[in-house]
Amino acid sequence: MERVLVTGAGGYIGTTLVPMLLEAGYQVRAIDRFFFGNDLLPDHPRLEKIKADSRQLGADHFRNVDHVIDLVAISNDPSGELFQEATYEINHESRVACARLAKMAGVKRYVLPSSCSIYGFQEPSVVCDETFKTNPLTTYAKANELAEHGVFPLADDDFCVVVLRQATVYGYSPRMRFDLAINGMTYGAWKTGTLPLMRDGTQWRPMVHVRDTARAQMFMLAAPVDKVNGQLFNVGSDANNYQLGPLAETIAGAVPKDVKVEWYGDADHRSYRVKFDKIEALGWKAEKTAVDGVNEIVERLENGTLDRTTRTITLDWYQELIRWQKIVHEAELGGAMLNLADGQAGRKTG
Ligand SMILES: NC(=O)c1ccc[n+]([C@@H]2O[C@H](COP(=O)([O-])OP(=O)(O)OC[C@H]3O[C@@H](n4cnc5c(N)ncnc54)[C@H](O)[C@@H]3O)[C@@H](O)[C@H]2O)c1
Repeated sequence: MERVLVTGAGGYIGTTLVPMLLEAGYQVRAIDRFFFGNDLLPDHPRLEKIKADSRQLGADHFRNVDHVIDLVAISNDPSGELFQEATYEINHESRVACARLAKMAGVKRYVLPSSCSIYGFQEPSVVCDETFKTNPLTTYAKANELAEHGVFPLADDDFCVVVLRQATVYGYSPRMRFDLAINGMTYGAWKTGTLPLMRDGTQWRPMVHVRDTARAQMFMLAAPVDKVNGQLFNVGSDANNYQLGPLAETIAGAVPKDVKVEWYGDADHRSYRVKFDKIEALGWKAEKTAVDGVNEIVERLENGTLDRTTRTITLDWYQELIRWQKIVHEAELGGAMLNLADGQAGRKTG
């Protein structure tokens, strides 16, 4: 039975991917700081959950591992700008270090889930394939590109390296993210009847459903080595290459409510259309549409099993954790709060 080590396993993609790997019969070693909670992965006899920082992994973590899917990241542009140093350390340096450790430990395959945001801004007439010159505009995109450059040279006959440039992901996942375009627009439309659309709506953005991108990652664990080793693949589909304005109209039409579209924010400078022929030629194809994602999110919102909380907005949650870290640090004594810590009991007075 093959073992897959997944970093960032407690995240949006990880909490969808890990159950799919288990269902496919893999053993899974899930590594995460669990910033979004440690209760989002199932208990399973073939799942090991390890709380560790990706910047501190060692050879032991890779023992008896066949494949690595290296999801770990500070995962969006606003968080990347606020936490620049950590973003380079985690998204770039820790992932290159992870690939090196994997190679030294005899791991067979290493998959780096990168991002189409590396294409940044392109003229609307351009449809980027994997050979296209990149244009990363943000710290997040730059760190991803550095990770790509760092892991490719490690590929050889014994160590298969695959990089996946994922489109913007959507759909329900146990670690839900409403800071992603389709998910956020769906929530606004459903909750208030006002769909928030980032100016000016002409920008192009490819999308991919979270289960589809997880399937692409799993696909790469079994694809013929000679077809994927040292290769880069865009992950998405032409049908899901959207301009945000028309996409907003599609989402508004799928939400069971009267919905009006409202602009927000400054003009979005990111705009890119992407080609997905290369991965499709290997036999992988996206199955879901934006409307599938909207429907599953609305169903959960309606039946009360999903809500937009601070924890579902990546940047807000990281800021919340930092705020509470300070509050807890100031209030605790010897690691304890209302009770006294061990060893302090003897010093009780009166
Ligand atoms: N979601 C998207 O739209 C999208 C699109 C393209 C690429 N990606 C890439 O896919 C990957 C996963 O994205 P996601 O949406 O699941 O993000 P996420 O923020 O939900 O998950 C990231 C996980 O990494 C963990 N983590 C962060 N820093 C850590 C550290 N130092 N050590 C250990 N764990 C740490 C967090 O706790 C979290 O569980 C990222 O590399 C992201 O760049 C995502």
